[in-house]
Amino acid sequence: MNNTRISPSLLAADFTRLGQQLQLVADADLLHVDIMDGHFVPNISFGPAVAAAAKAACDLPLDIHLMIDNPDTFIDSFAALEPEYLTIHYEASPHLHRSLAAIREHGLKAGVSLNPHTPVGWLEPILDSLDLILIMSVNPGFGGQTFIPHSYEKLRQARQLVGERPIAIEVDGGVSLDNAAALAHAGASILVAGSAIFQASDPQQYIAQMRKTLSA
Ligand code: DX5
Ligand code: ZN
Repeated sequence: MNNTRISPSLLAADFTRLGQQLQLVADADLLHVDIMDGHFVPNISFGPAVAAAAKAACDLPLDIHLMIDNPDTFIDSFAALEPEYLTIHYEASPHLHRSLAAIREHGLKAGVSLNPHTPVGWLEPILDSLDLILIMSVNPGFGGQTFIPHSYEKLRQARQLVGERPIAIEVDGGVSLDNAAALAHAGASILVAGSAIFQASDPQQYIAQMRKTLSA
């Protein structure tokens, strides 16, 4: 469990002082970047320009989560930011095999995110084309929502489905110190946490506590 990675979600940062906020999470492993279009999800976040500013203000590899319809039309824009992971939604991708190949053609790791109602098993035919499975543990669109308990079962299913393949399993939504260890135990190798980290009185200390609970 020691190598579980922590990916603070930029969505929960104070955008009036982005640079300072990113310094507070410099000890994390990745920076989770939520892109919302107001169509696929009922909220709009920010686009490539703000993601580029965040990249310039920290040294963390980007973990970009596209919650947008027609993600193919934005793969080039976000690939230009050279993220470690570029993740699209299963539900927004009628030609998933082609979309994932397009991401990998940029030399990036390709991720697929599943809404809470989407079965993990539906990824079985496409496992060789992906590098990350993102289990949404809330309905995508907003930070600060309550974790959906069935996500534990989906993490276990994902872990079993992946087997020995080098595919990361990420969980996103309602993650905090309280459930971090249990989520890693269920199979998560990347934990996304937005409000828990950025609303902590000391985000740096909060990340350190998360690491401690993960290695206990
Ligand atoms: C939700 C986003 C999440 C969100 C998590 O649609 O995909 O990444 O920022 O926020 P918290 O950790 O506050 O639930
Ligand atoms: Zn996200």
